[in-house]
Amino acid sequence: MNNQNVINEIRSKIDIVDFIGEYVPLIQKGKNFFGVCPFHNDTNPSMSVSRDKQIYKCFSCGASGNVFTFLMDYEHIDFKEALKILADRTNISIGNVHIDKKTNKYDKYYDVYDLANKFYQNNINSSFGSKAKEYLKSRGIDDKIIKEFGIGLSLEDSDSLTKLLKNKNYNLVELENIGLISNGHDAYINRIMFPLHDINGRTVGFSGRIYDNSNLNKYLNTKETVIFKKGECLYNYHIAKDYARRAKFVIVMEGFMDVIRASTIDYKNVVALMGTALTKEQISLIKKLSQNVILCLDGDNPGQKAMLNVGNELEKNGLKVKVIVLNDDDDPDTFILKNGKEAFDNLVENAINYSDYRINNLKKGVNFNSDLELSNYINNVLQETSKINDEIRREIILKKLAIEVNISYNTLEKRLNEYLEMESQKEEQKEEKQQVKTKLSLYDKACYAFIYCMLNSSKVINYYNRNNVSMVEKAYRHLASEIYYYYTKYGEVTIADFYTYLTDKAELLELYNKIISYESSYDTSDKAIEDYVKVINKYNERQEIKRLNALVKKEIDPIEKAKIAEQIRLLRIGE
Ligand code: CTP
Ligand code: MN
Repeated sequence: MNNQNVINEIRSKIDIVDFIGEYVPLIQKGKNFFGVCPFHNDTNPSMSVSRDKQIYKCFSCGASGNVFTFLMDYEHIDFKEALKILADRTNISIGNVHIDKKTNKYDKYYDVYDLANKFYQNNINSSFGSKAKEYLKSRGIDDKIIKEFGIGLSLEDSDSLTKLLKNKNYNLVELENIGLISNGHDAYINRIMFPLHDINGRTVGFSGRIYDNSNLNKYLNTKETVIFKKGECLYNYHIAKDYARRAKFVIVMEGFMDVIRASTIDYKNVVALMGTALTKEQISLIKKLSQNVILCLDGDNPGQKAMLNVGNELEKNGLKVKVIVLNDDDDPDTFILKNGKEAFDNLVENAINYSDYRINNLKKGVNFNSDLELSNYINNVLQETSKINDEIRREIILKKLAIEVNISYNTLEKRLNEYLEMESQKEEQKEEKQQVKTKLSLYDKACYAFIYCMLNSSKVINYYNRNNVSMVEKAYRHLASEIYYYYTKYGEVTIADFYTYLTDKAELLELYNKIISYESSYDTSDKAIEDYVKVINKYNERQEIKRLNALVKKEIDPIEKAKIAEQIRLLRIGE
């Protein structure tokens, strides 16, 4: 069997609805299944998955593809890695399939980070590391955890790493650029080194912590480099992703000491924001871990403030958020150290809904004896309540509020309904905005339809060949000819398999995506096909006339000029 056949066989063995269902909850509506799209900040289920066609497409962001593209985009891996994972899943051997390994222009940076990481880890286990180990031990971090998280040590000698890398012929300017060297010396001196990973688990930076009584900054982080963007990382993402998917929730904490501590009591589905304001990229990473998030930030004021903001952002992006509130002087690390696993299990089990937390927070500092403050408070609570998509929970809040503020349930309900009305109007506007499709010209529509029909019927492919259908626009022409080539080589074309064939042809893949997601069905009758081709040919002619007109203007030789003019005249008659 050749490559494409093995690849197609693997794809056909995995049902796309089952597969995507493991990542995103899907609900059946008619023939198709719908879920929240993981490839943009979706709140309504915009992604449809078709069991018939074995493809998915998002009506909002236009993402579409088969099981391979889903896995590649979701996990940020290349085709080869996706193929390997799905081959394992189907028990189909890919021993003979040869795919060129893509080299990455940053490979050498990953390699040097790997080397630095090993160097630091070695140090902590050497005689230089005894003080650092003592410090870690005093915080309850033993050798097993040190190994698990790759914790290391940078030395007091400010040139040790620089020398090592120099001897290995690394370029000093490049080392400065990627943050390992600073002003000709080691960037990190005498710090406990926590490696930071990208989403694929490659070491791309460090956070170095002081461990003696020095009054330097507590943490020193790698600067922004071509391979390290702090705002695009979540600490422990690469480990947490499998655990979070299995547990069906993810816990978000502030610092990496918190994550490390949680892992000692078997919580591996945990990530940390690392002290940055939440970014767009981090939101989309969290979304990939799970739809269900438990926020457990520090108990102090800044932590609680962050919890309100982060929770709000996450809910706005369609995630279901719960929160754990710690005492003012605790963070997850100290809480677990003091109280142990069972106490933390308890907190997780009893995490409260973010909206309830938010509503509870509204009460802070309100003077209930002031009519104005009281009515503001009531309005704020009702406004928050109107955002909750659950009638029962809304009613519970309303009942409690009626007792709390001594206002009749009916009066509160009336006001709540006004807010609900406003909310639903906002939703509608949002949906309308999302549904504005790019308007296509008649010609583009005809090309889309014709190409789509080629994918669905060998009759149309034969028509294409017999009638020499050609499109002046390069991308259309190439796509059609690739479909024809694929058909002649493999005997049939399916929409799902053709995605994989286009993997390396980015420009064609983009067009293919657009065609697949533009409409869900096209008229494939003989009459319709002929109509599409008529439109295509007419456009071709007009383009040709344009080209000749430009030519005739430039031509100086009167005989040649007359020849071209005649050509134009003939084309015009045809029109
Ligand atoms: N942070 C940082 N630079 C600092 C302080 C904090 O980069 N000077 C980041 C770190 O990623 C840290 C996170 O913010 O993990 C949370 O800060 P903090 O709660 O102060 O750190 P802890 O994880 O609690 O660390 P430790 O317990 O060792 O103090
Ligand atoms: Mn801490």
